[in-house]
Amino acid sequence: MIKIAIASDHAGFELKSKLRDYLKDKGYSVTDLGTDSDKSVDYPEYANKLCSYLLKGECEKGVLICGTGLGMSIAANRHKGIRAALCTIPEYAKLSREHNNANVLCLGARFIPFEQATVILDTFLSTDFEGDRHQRRVDLLDK
Ligand code: RB5
Repeated sequence: MIKIAIASDHAGFELKSKLRDYLKDKGYSVTDLGTDSDKSVDYPEYANKLCSYLLKGECEKGVLICGTGLGMSIAANRHKGIRAALCTIPEYAKLSREHNNANVLCLGARFIPFEQATVILDTFLSTDFEGDRHQRRVDLLDK
């Protein structure tokens, strides 16, 4: 089982807690990098924390949650080597893995109910990168 890190701001706190427990119940090793309550915090701090953790090799995949998922994805994609995908439907999660080799899934807690989030998350974690022409394109992202 791969190692996963998860983090959110206040708007994503409740969904983050539920998804953390959902992943643990499935047997994943999950590191919760906060936030720890629904008290207002700044999403870039949590995006930066998770991206640094992943880039150090402490986990293989990350999950970032804020109100829309937009702030988290914008912040995460400023880190070279991070490919964060904001997904609202399972098909996006599948393609973000197959074509973009996404290593961070972003979710918008104010728009995605828990059940839908689990389907998107399961799809993200169970889909492999296709490589080939997509590898060339992913390599260009970091040039
Ligand atoms: C917080 O109100 C909200 O702005 C934040 O969770 C996120 O949606 C930002 O992109």
